[in-house]
Amino acid sequence: MSLLFEPFQIKSINIRNRTVRSATYEGMGTHAGAPSKQLAKLYNTLAEGQVGLLVTSATLIERFKISLPEDENLAYPTFIDSDAMIALWRPIVKDVHARGAAIAMQVVHPGRQENPMLRGGEPPIAPSAVEEKAFGNMPRAMSVGEIEEMVEKFAQVCRRVKEAGLDAVQLHGGHGYLLSNFISPYTNRRTDEYGGDTRRRAKIIVDIVRRARELVGEDYPIMIKMNCSDFVPDGLTKDEAARVAAVIADAGIDCIEITGGIYETREEMSRKGINKQEKETYFRPYAEALRNTVKVPLILVGGVRTPKVAERVLSDGIADMISFSRPFIREPQLIKRWKEGDLRKATCISCNQCSDNVFTQPMRCYVEEAKRAKREKNL
Ligand SMILES: Cc1cc2nc3c(=O)[nH]c(=O)nc-3n(C[C@H](O)[C@H](O)[C@H](O)COP(=O)(O)O)c2cc1C
Repeated sequence: MSLLFEPFQIKSINIRNRTVRSATYEGMGTHAGAPSKQLAKLYNTLAEGQVGLLVTSATLIERFKISLPEDENLAYPTFIDSDAMIALWRPIVKDVHARGAAIAMQVVHPGRQENPMLRGGEPPIAPSAVEEKAFGNMPRAMSVGEIEEMVEKFAQVCRRVKEAGLDAVQLHGGHGYLLSNFISPYTNRRTDEYGGDTRRRAKIIVDIVRRARELVGEDYPIMIKMNCSDFVPDGLTKDEAARVAAVIADAGIDCIEITGGIYETREEMSRKGINKQEKETYFRPYAEALRNTVKVPLILVGGVRTPKVAERVLSDGIADMISFSRPFIREPQLIKRWKEGDLRKATCISCNQCSDNVFTQPMRCYVEEAKRAKREKNL
């Protein structure tokens, strides 16, 4: 157990070990989209639990077109859509730093997977009008002017994240959201400068990185979480993902977290039933393709449950850091447990009840709660 607890550096950030809390939607924003006290508490617990780099939930770069009702039972997202949000994040960042963890913000535009209700009945926006089959959305193709505005919006968001004191920004370039829609040949059928070959499909990300650099400087880490495969016919494949990765790394992306799947193939994103070591690290073969193509640090997510398996990914040189989502819902202090010598695998059984309830109550471990209720009943 040596490598997992070795420090790592991504540009200007020093990270105390090789573990990452992968972005996990918490639904812990206030009605106004600011981080709530409950969210601050969760981040403190994760940081005390010895995670190296904590990535926030996907934080929206644009407001919904409608305002949501105020209801204490609703799980609101967080937004980073205006400068007013900067000061609200600073105390959270300070507390996380005081507990020794680094923190990055994941930023997202939902693209074709946005619920039309949240757009006041308007269709979601996407590179092309390709029907979204999970929700049955029919998106509208963006104009070049709208894409240029989106580039500026993302760049300004990167600036805000830096000004709020976070150590890095992570563009959400996976899971079928807007940037993922652009790089995927399945959802990008454009014939202009933003569609066609690899370079053109990756252009929106290249443009964001170049513009963001003018605002955040050379040293600030701009990371991305991107798909290694969409797992749909005509979608992003392993080899194409590696080519996209090469283009965006060349443009200045500093670190890539490798994931996969879109809403239409959601079962690939957070695979169920990870009950033996062979099922862990399910994106590892894809990471190998990226590793051979790009030099930037790689983070591997997806079904990591056993310290030995995590360690092997690092010692084999496949990735530089290891990321966890569902295990931290059940055991926010998992890394501390491992560090203290209890090397039993994560207790998460990958049942996906957290994922099934992602838009209502994602941060509950339903299995743990059921076990607790049973114990209490038997007392
Ligand atoms: C409840 C829940 C919420 C998630 N929210 C996000 C998110 O906001 N951004 C993101 O990139 N991935 C999100 N994911 C995906 C995870 O970060 C991760 O990529 C996936 O679950 C596989 O890792 P795991 O096996 O460690 O859970 C979410 C997953 C779950 C279960």
